[in-house]
Amino acid sequence: MKRIAIFASGNGSNAENIIKYFLNDANNRVELVLTNNANAKVIQRAKKFDIPVMIFNRDEFYSKEIVVKKLVTYKIDLVVLAGFMWLVPSYIIKSYPRRIINIHPALLPKYGGKGMYGEHVHQAVSNAKEKESGITIHYVNEKYDDGDILFQTSICIEEGESPISIANKIHVLEHENFPVVIEKILQS
Ligand code: GAR
Repeated sequence: MKRIAIFASGNGSNAENIIKYFLNDANNRVELVLTNNANAKVIQRAKKFDIPVMIFNRDEFYSKEIVVKKLVTYKIDLVVLAGFMWLVPSYIIKSYPRRIINIHPALLPKYGGKGMYGEHVHQAVSNAKEKESGITIHYVNEKYDDGDILFQTSICIEEGESPISIANKIHVLEHENFPVVIEKILQS
């Protein structure tokens, strides 16, 4: 059995989609959801499926080792960032080398880096009148949106399409592809 932990900071639609995808899988399972936000909707989403949730604050994440201890206690094989907005500290990255992945709602290296998350990304893509955008799944390193790329796929953007419409299309793409990519990583 391969065990997955998901970090999310807000809505958690990707987290729920991944939880559901692996619900009846004999080989892989979401064991734990972690969040920095006590009001995040992802908490209710995880509880619906009886997945334990850990809530941590900035000090606990950056200065204490309780998050890594939790991952070890739950024998986590793969850490998945699904809408997690904090930079992962290097002691966690060193504890899970090439076993932490992130999804980014654009075609990196474009529209990545500090401040480029969620709707800000789609607004920037729309402002630049891009004809396409997409998603990137990549390994996590010490910088924002910078690790080796595992997977990318794209959508077309119509002329004058709103950031909300782009965001909706990107979410569909994320939900279709993220669990499948996770499954492949766990098989390799
Ligand atoms: C997703 O679109 C994800 O790609 C993005 O946050 C959204 C979370 O949605 N992540 C980033 O922007 C990271 N830089 P969700 O909470 O509904 O899964």
